[in-house]
Amino acid sequence: MRIGFFDSGIGGLTVLAEALRRHPDKDFLYMADTLHVPYGTKSKEDVKGYILEAVGTMMNEGIDALVVACNTATSIAITELRERYSLPIVGMEPAVKPAVEMNSATGKRVLVFATPLTLQLPKYYALVSRVDDTGIVDSLPLPELVHYCESLQFDKQIMNEYFRAKLAGYELNDYGIIVLGCTHYPFYKDILRELLPDHIAIVDGNVGTVKRLSALLSRYGIARGGGSGNVQFMCTGNEPGYIDKMQTALAYLREKDNLTETEPF
Ligand code: DGL
Repeated sequence: MRIGFFDSGIGGLTVLAEALRRHPDKDFLYMADTLHVPYGTKSKEDVKGYILEAVGTMMNEGIDALVVACNTATSIAITELRERYSLPIVGMEPAVKPAVEMNSATGKRVLVFATPLTLQLPKYYALVSRVDDTGIVDSLPLPELVHYCESLQFDKQIMNEYFRAKLAGYELNDYGIIVLGCTHYPFYKDILRELLPDHIAIVDGNVGTVKRLSALLSRYGIARGGGSGNVQFMCTGNEPGYIDKMQTALAYLREKDNLTETEPF
């Protein structure tokens, strides 16, 4: 029994780390589409082709369930993947709904960070118009953050400058929650936490995604056992060192006590 995790790069590891915490009795196959990362600045048509090809490779390798651990890929290809394959498939979307619910009592605004492509797609517009009755959601694309993350740029000073410049036009007192709507972004949660005022909560959809995975596995009768927390890594680009990079990044994430600050989802 093996669960596949798919992302354009190392971002999906933030979701895999959560899955390993909750399902240490499963094995995992992690696929990064390193030939085409980043997705968030490319065309929808191109990215769809990349996703279908990489996921096809994962299917050939043998998986029993799939987590599309990428908000951008989910927006573009989740429907088609579900049409093509009959195994359980879990996708991701920015945690806008719970953020709006959490904020309704405070009257503060919600700021969603995601890739340009996620924020441009109809799925995101549909989500926001469905849940944001009072118009409190703002969206900020952070395309550079995926580049920083892929090059393991975690220098506090450099990243603080980047975030300060991006947030310069926002009155942070008006905001109660920042949603990390790209799976690469939780790598910067600690840096953001130090930078942002205390009243701003930082949320992502990782815990919610793994809970949906658990529910789906139960429904398909594959809830327990079948593995031992083994992770096999693959990437489309075959760059020397990328597998090591993924292993290092996952070890870093697993060392952290608590990747997700709030767990309402
Ligand atoms: N990690 C991905 C996401 O959640 C996409 C990053 C990218 O390739 O631009 O949206």
